Parts: sequence; C-alpha cells; structure tokens
Amino acid sequence: MFGWFKSKSVPDHNETVAPVEEFSDPSRIYEYFSDLTGIHFDQKKSIVTPKISRFAKECGCYTFDALYEKLHSDLCCKEALINLLTVNETYFYREMGQIEFLGHSLKEEKRNRRILCAPGSSGEEPYSIAIYLAEIGCDLSKIEIVSIDINTEVISKAKKGIYPERSLYRLQPELRERYFTPSDNGFKVVDSIKRCVIFQSCNLFEPEFLNIGVFEVIFSRNMLIYFDYETILRAIEQLKKVASSEETLFFFGHADIVTKISMLKEHYQDGIKFYTP
Ligand SMILES: C[S@@+](CC[C@H](N)C(=O)[O-])C[C@H]1O[C@@H](n2cnc3c(N)ncnc32)[C@H](O)[C@@H]1O
Repeated sequence: MFGWFKSKSVPDHNETVAPVEEFSDPSRIYEYFSDLTGIHFDQKKSIVTPKISRFAKECGCYTFDALYEKLHSDLCCKEALINLLTVNETYFYREMGQIEFLGHSLKEEKRNRRILCAPGSSGEEPYSIAIYLAEIGCDLSKIEIVSIDINTEVISKAKKGIYPERSLYRLQPELRERYFTPSDNGFKVVDSIKRCVIFQSCNLFEPEFLNIGVFEVIFSRNMLIYFDYETILRAIEQLKKVASSEETLFFFGHADIVTKISMLKEHYQDGIKFYTP
C-alpha cells in the first residue's frame, strides 16, 4: 500500500542506476562499417540503426561514440558487429546455370583446378559446386574449392556442414540421399564432398585475402549488391589479383551490378554471362 511512498522517500542503496542512453547520430558507425566491409545500408538505415543501438547496449556502450571507440579497441566486438550486420542468405543449388556451365567446361579437364567462392557464406554454394561436379563425373581429386566469408559464424557453420531441410529445398531427393546423411540437427554433407572445400574467414578487402593463392574460376555472387559503385570496383580489383591467368572465369550473381565495368571482359555463351580479366 505504501510502496510508492517508501521507494521515493527511502533510497535503496542496492538499486542500480540505469545508465543514460544517448543514441543520436550513428553516421560514424555506418562509415566505420562500410570502410571495413564495403557494405552500405542506404535505405535500410531505419531498420539497422535500432539493431546497432541494441548491440551497443549489450556491449556496455550507451552512445554511438562509445561503441565507435570500443570497435577500435576490442576485436571480439568488431567481429560480433560484422556477424550481426552481414546478410548471409544462401541455399543449395542457387543460380545453377553458371555451375552447370562450369561443369561442362571442367568435365574433360585433366589439370588441377582451384575454384574460389568469395563469398561462400555458410557453405551451400561451394558444396553445391562440389556436388554438381561429382554428379557429372568430374574427378574431384583434381578440384579444390576455397570458400571465404567475412562472417566468422557462417564459416563455423560451413565447416560443420549440417543444414536444415529448408536449405536443401532445391535438391532432388536422390541428391539428398547421395550427398547428405541425416543428423540430429538436420542433414550433414558427406565427407567426400566436404573434403573438396576449404573454408576460411577472411575480408575481401584485407591484405590477408591475397594469401589464399590463385584460381582458375572465381565465383563472387550476391555480395556486390551490398556495395556502392566505388566499392564494387575495389572488390573486382581484389578478385582480379587472385586470378591465375587471363583465362580465369568470373561468375557474379544475377543481381550484382557488373555491367559497364571495363575492368573485365564480358562473355556470353549458352545463355550464361561470365567474365575474364
Ligand atoms: C548473400 S551472401 C551470398 C552467399 C553466396 N555467394 C550466394 O550467392 O548464395 C553474401 C555474403 O557476403 C559476405 N561478405 C560481405 N562483405 C564481405 C567482405 N568484405 N569480405 C568477405 N565476405 C563478405 C557476407 O558475410 C555474406 O555471407
């Protein structure tokens, strides 16, 4: 009955005072994030800003300036923000036309071939490539697929190789049976496919990206859509540095804006668009 009176007149010394939040201008965080990853949020800021404020509070920061400082001094905080804000949507047998096209050009190939997925997210794309190549009878011992992504959580997921049913919805039942074994948490990629793919967490724009070696085939699908034009050019410049020769094949996603880019030669064959350096 006298609760209100008690709480006002007798201060409770154990009571913790809620910190004052002042999340006003997030522009420094957006700038920091796009310099780091290439990703621009543009029209999505009204959705993303509340996410960043929540994240900041979880990190014990009550202003965007405090978060900005923490991101520079705390690697775990930086990694967690990247994991929170990257869009990792992917699934098995996505945009298969390009993979089928590649398969036909590799089928009779006797040389070792390295394929890059930059980015490969949680692994559905590189595993789809390996599955398709196995299906058409390519010698997988001659193929190495390297899959990189800036998001460390999706890389861990890819390494485990266990997927929920919804990631597999494009796969025919016989492919599921041949290349997956049911596990407690979903479907696990079989070892013969797993061992074709190497996963590495890596930012395309960091110097470490250039340590991954060179490739005859480069997939970079559904990442450039998050970049502005200048960043797309920087991304392509980076990817070109890991091309093994003038004959390296580049494949981009249907939604990625790579038209009118003179840095690559455009080709069109059997209904498939691809690029060479
Ligand atoms: C939408 S997924 C595309 C995955 C797959 N290529 C596909 O098409 O299904 C985009 C991925 O790009 C990654 N990414 C964004 N910026 C990156 C960067 N600077 N370096 C490496 N990966 C990045 C994200 O973490 C995300 O997993």
